[in-house]
Amino acid sequence: MASVVWYVCLAGLLVAVSGQIVDDCVLVGGEKKSDVDVAILAKLAPLKNKRFEAKVEEGSDTYVYTFVVCGRVITNNTSTNEGLLQTKVNSKDSSVIGRINETHVISGSDWILLSYRGGDKYDSHCGSEPRTAMIMISCTKNTLADGFMVIKEERSKSTECFYLFEMDSSVACPPEESHLSAGSILLIVFAVLVALYLIGGFVYQRFVVGAKGMEQFPNITFWQEFGNLVADGCDFVCRSRPRSADTAYRGVGDDQLAEEPEERDDHLLPM
Ligand SMILES: *[C@@H]1O[C@H](CO)[C@@H](O)[C@H](O)[C@H]1NC(C)=O
Ligand SMILES: *[C@@H]1O[C@H](CO)[C@@H](O)[C@H](O)[C@H]1NC(C)=O
Repeated sequence: MASVVWYVCLAGLLVAVSGQIVDDCVLVGGEKKSDVDVAILAKLAPLKNKRFEAKVEEGSDTYVYTFVVCGRVITNNTSTNEGLLQTKVNSKDSSVIGRINETHVISGSDWILLSYRGGDKYDSHCGSEPRTAMIMISCTKNTLADGFMVIKEERSKSTECFYLFEMDSSVACPPEESHLSAGSILLIVFAVLVALYLIGGFVYQRFVVGAKGMEQFPNITFWQEFGNLVADGCDFVCRSRPRSADTAYRGVGDDQLAEEPEERDDHLLPM
């Protein structure tokens, strides 16, 4: 009963968390949310509102890129839905690279590509289109999120420019599947129980009871009895001819009677 309540609570929590992340990361063309996109956002839920920073030096300038997963970089009421912000160190300059209200997600077996579009417009490059941030999240086990860094800024094209980032996270990993079947787990448990019984029994017989030799095996008389019973059972089930009948009639059985005339004949012949 308690476990049922626990599962209901867990399921409710998961729905609540994924609902929240889906609402904050507003998908492009997301008036009608696809199940696939919602599932990817749900996978990202453990990273929600986590903040990552990467520094890049360009000539004498240093830029800091701040990335928040489905959350705003600026937390006061001047926020404009920026999910990835570029700030120039020692200056007031900053540019929004992408906004969470224009999110796009795609994923493969061991990666998730999160894009924020609708950033600040380029001044002259790329036909003055809005900036776009792409964050490639690759599967890395045993780390929730690490290694956020800038890969490159592609802005030499006339359109579809982007800033590319990468990050390692276990949320991008395929669901862990057990390599052991239920049958083999049962076998292993059984083998462990047998081993425990033998070792425990051995230790008990040797050091508590003080047994020697074969007597050290736990419940030796029972197992000997058991072995005999099994042998008898096998004898009864597997043998095609009854063995006891075989021995019982030998000596006084029909074959001796049948042999007798032959023997007599043998004796008679040479005479
Ligand atoms: C932000 O909030 C402060 C007070 O909390 C208010 O004075 C200010 O006008 C607000 N700014 C915007 C852009 O809403
Ligand atoms: C996203 O938010 C920004 C700033 O709040 C706004 O200017 C823009 O129109 C919004 N984009 C969409 C698609 O709603």
